[in-house]
Amino acid sequence: MLDLLIHNANLPDGRSQMSVAVHAGKIVEVAAALQAPARQTLDAQGFLLSPPFVDAHFHMDATLSYGLPRVNQSGTLLEGIALWGELKPLLTQEALVTRALAYCDWAVAKGLLAIRTHVDVCDERLLAVDALLEVKRQVAPYIDLQLVAFPQDGVLRTPGALDNLKRALDKGVDVVGGIPHFERTSEQGAASVKLLCELAAERGLRVDMHCDESDDPHSRHVETLAFETQRLGLHGLATGSHLTSMHSMDNYYVSKLIALMAEAQLHAVANPLINITLQGRHDNYPKRRGMTRVPELLAAGINVAFGHDCVMDPWYSLGSGDMLEVAHMGLHVAQMTSQAAMRQCFDAVTVNAARVMGLENYGLAVGCNADFVLLQARDPVEALRLRANRLKVFKRGMLLAESAQASTQLHLAGRPARTAFQSD
Ligand code: FE2
Repeated sequence: MLDLLIHNANLPDGRSQMSVAVHAGKIVEVAAALQAPARQTLDAQGFLLSPPFVDAHFHMDATLSYGLPRVNQSGTLLEGIALWGELKPLLTQEALVTRALAYCDWAVAKGLLAIRTHVDVCDERLLAVDALLEVKRQVAPYIDLQLVAFPQDGVLRTPGALDNLKRALDKGVDVVGGIPHFERTSEQGAASVKLLCELAAERGLRVDMHCDESDDPHSRHVETLAFETQRLGLHGLATGSHLTSMHSMDNYYVSKLIALMAEAQLHAVANPLINITLQGRHDNYPKRRGMTRVPELLAAGINVAFGHDCVMDPWYSLGSGDMLEVAHMGLHVAQMTSQAAMRQCFDAVTVNAARVMGLENYGLAVGCNADFVLLQARDPVEALRLRANRLKVFKRGMLLAESAQASTQLHLAGRPARTAFQSD
């Protein structure tokens, strides 16, 4: 007897009228019009059943702190970092846990069931580390939360940061982070990449650096990250996050760089909502978009994900945990408007992001975890267009969240009243 049988679902790969069978938290069959006894059945009504959304880049220690202790006036990355520095001494573990758990509730409602969050380790107390380890433990039944030890103020620039980072890893933080462009000099930035990659290799961990989050075309730490990844055999385990300086780099240099990144099997994470708002702030007109070269990276075979990065914090005043909003912005900023490119944008917040995190058993194939979201849309492109309603969210075959179908009653003069929805 199956635990759950879903009928009449469209799948992201274009198959329609599919059934998905679940037993003991796993997908045991995916087939057209399957008939089998099940404890629970669900008619998907031709809507899109997708693996859950995955956010490959977030800051859960800062989320929902907007306005504390004040608002970012210039809108720049650097004022955001300064503002976070003002907020840090005022943080309590209780407040951090409360805000992070509130965000996790939002995430579940949006079908976002895996998040890689950076956690600032430039704090002797490691308050945020302890808070997010506690959150990770509490949300484990419904969200895969992966933590990155992130030296926000620079691992070499800040006294004690390296020791704090190592202590965070000892406590159970999963991934080694860094911020080479924030070190005092380019040489120090490169040295930090080398040091942190060596630390990751020693401990058998993944690496995810905030890398070249700048409009400066000479910020080239991703080159060192690709080199160290290659040298230390970290292929497929290292991620360059942001990479916004690539937007402004010389095309000839980028043609060499992208090949090096591909060789190292580096993952790339762009954060469209944040890149489009933080970058280009020193520009007059024309203003640069600041996002990294997503279509070119994808064309070279590099795995690219889109991250949310920030929600209501010192860097960004908006956001709601909606990865379709993130992908929608990424699509626009990168001008990825062909059918194939729009589908790639959907992948950037699902399968590609899962690859960045190294999630196992993710997807809609037999043997995968029965984690999925039913969207009020027929296919990935429509899901993006509508930032589709999440009708049902499942984890290991268990219902976590559900929403009523969205519709509008129209009362137009001279026409019969009717119910309408934007995809009718
Ligand atoms: Fe970030």
